[in-house]
Amino acid sequence: MRAWRKTWVAVVSVFILASPLLGGPQSSSPRPFNLIRWNHGKFIFGVDYYPEAWPESQWEKDAEMMQAAGINFVRMGEFDWVKMEPEEGHFDFSWLDRALKILSAHGIHAVLGTPTAAPPAWLYAEYPDIAAVNAEGIRYRFGSRRNYCLNNPHFLQATRQIVTALAEHYKNNPAVIGFQIDNELGNPYCFNRYCLAAFQNWCRNKYKTLDALNRAWGTVFWGQTYTAWSQIPLPWNTLFGVHNPSLALDYDRFFNDSTKSYLELQARILRRIAPNKAITTNEMGLFDAIDYSKLNTALDFVAWDNYPMFDQNHSNYFGPALAHDLMRGSKNNQNFMVMEEEAGLPGWTMFWGHQAPAALYRVWAYQAVAHGADGVCFFRWRTSTYGTEQYWQGVLDQDSYPNARYRIIARMGKEIQRLTPVLEGSHVVSKVALLVSPDSRWAFHIQPLTKGFNYNRQLYRYYDAFRRRAVNVDVVFPQDNFSAYKVLVAPSLFVVNAELVRKLTQFVRGGGLLILTYRSGVKDSHNVYTTLTLPGRLAPLVGIAIHNYDPETTQQQKIVMSNGTSYPADVWFDILTPTSARVLATYGEDFYAGKPAVTINRYGRGAVIYVGTEPRSSRFYSGLVQLVARRTGLALGPKLPNGVEMATRQKAGEKIIFLLNYTSQPQSVDVGAVTRNALTGQAENESVPIPPYDVRVLTRR
Ligand code: GLA
Repeated sequence: MRAWRKTWVAVVSVFILASPLLGGPQSSSPRPFNLIRWNHGKFIFGVDYYPEAWPESQWEKDAEMMQAAGINFVRMGEFDWVKMEPEEGHFDFSWLDRALKILSAHGIHAVLGTPTAAPPAWLYAEYPDIAAVNAEGIRYRFGSRRNYCLNNPHFLQATRQIVTALAEHYKNNPAVIGFQIDNELGNPYCFNRYCLAAFQNWCRNKYKTLDALNRAWGTVFWGQTYTAWSQIPLPWNTLFGVHNPSLALDYDRFFNDSTKSYLELQARILRRIAPNKAITTNEMGLFDAIDYSKLNTALDFVAWDNYPMFDQNHSNYFGPALAHDLMRGSKNNQNFMVMEEEAGLPGWTMFWGHQAPAALYRVWAYQAVAHGADGVCFFRWRTSTYGTEQYWQGVLDQDSYPNARYRIIARMGKEIQRLTPVLEGSHVVSKVALLVSPDSRWAFHIQPLTKGFNYNRQLYRYYDAFRRRAVNVDVVFPQDNFSAYKVLVAPSLFVVNAELVRKLTQFVRGGGLLILTYRSGVKDSHNVYTTLTLPGRLAPLVGIAIHNYDPETTQQQKIVMSNGTSYPADVWFDILTPTSARVLATYGEDFYAGKPAVTINRYGRGAVIYVGTEPRSSRFYSGLVQLVARRTGLALGPKLPNGVEMATRQKAGEKIIFLLNYTSQPQSVDVGAVTRNALTGQAENESVPIPPYDVRVLTRR
């Protein structure tokens, strides 16, 4: 590497205020970012575009077709490092300038990806150790993408260089309104010497003394006491494939922090050089290697990649709905955008799934809007003729024929501009929140409990039950404020610390209803098992003691409600001894038949429901939602038919109601009031018909 690059001076990490239009970087301004204003008053309606892979003669035609479909936004460049820097230190943005010129002549603005997800072959050739090393100690080699080490100094230096050049080149170009940092950050875990040294350093910063670390991790077990920082390993493969769970949880936090500092390294450069451009990155919903609530503080707004076809177990609608809500919740419930919205069948070496009717892509895109998106960008404009993703359908196929997907998206393009004044300034407002604990999720990865355990499945089960009654749900994280909610659902809150217990206690004391489930309060923040009777620090709040439990293996178990109704249950069975709680259900089988399985405890002005197992029937959860509504006064919406969703956004004096029909049958929903169709302006009766694979957007004052 050249001397000038070696001596590159690190960028001063001072945040410079961005223009008032953008609201400035969020870390220095609490004002919410307004995506529509940012996109010059237009709802962001875009495509992910790869002009570099098509003859330049086609670009003009592409832009015309985009404009005709109402496209006003593209994301480009996120894998183009080698085209932007074909040789070390020599930059060429001329091709991108030409593409931007054509697009902007058609009223299309761009977000440019910093291209660091695909480092050039020349960089690997010069510094082979920029590649990550896997848990077996094998270094990845060039090929594919994203296989770099986040702590390699040469890679960080090369990153500074390309991001600086990109920001310098585009800082005054009005066609570029922002940057996407990298692409889908969050992998791979790396076990090379750079990450090893960085982890040891991270541990030293956290624990200060080896004594403190040894105590916190309980290294007395299997004689793992460390007498020098340099002895601390990474959780690489060992003879039995297991590590101290405390070390493993700290590694997950370290990886999260490494990802965050890599993102922030880029964000600082972009903010310093191009303070008027907005910054985001494209995230992955329920992907759980990353705690997005920690990552997102440096971004102006959240963007994420939504592929509903991956979610075949969840009827293809409540799955993406939860992911939208989680992404919104990862940055204080600010409106967000979808940077990659599915626009065709996914596939790499094989096609993944079956073809969806074109009309469904419009419904999924409206679903994003219903959950708080102020922008939808379809992946990708046209299916590739080259490379790994030849089977991943874009809006157009390789032949550029204006197919049914193009036509349905063009229809939405027209509609969404008409809806923009209605949508602008509106937000999702919820009285129910689902608490996601990244520490618990990581701890369950490290020790997965039983074969059948799945943290996300519990999130879905409770989420579905509220959503089937058209109740909006927010996703919150342990550091958030819970006071705006009537109901908080915190499934398997495995890892807790004193602060979280204090906040939950305050929430319930103040009148909130908290739902906790099995395996809560088991671990402290070092992933060490509590010596208190379970549910540990939560026991006084829950009003129960757990003196025995039964992990599901093969037995059939069920719970019996006080009215005699029973529901099958599995995964785990906590056998509850009420101390102050009242029993809502008991077990039906085995040596603990008749013992409490579900309880409710009044505490302060609120109450805590504890579900000691995982009921399998959705009827259990819908019954629970009704009980919760009776106790808290939570307003339930209509009982929705299967395959139909209802979600609302609101702003001063106005509710915007979205009815989404994901089925091939006509459906109708009684929304309980006369509304106005936001697209036609016509009044709608209380019972609103929704044709197959269609959407109704209604307003109500
Ligand atoms: C992700 C990536 C895209 C593309 C799609 C389809 O979302 O961000 O670059 O690879 O998946 O595979």
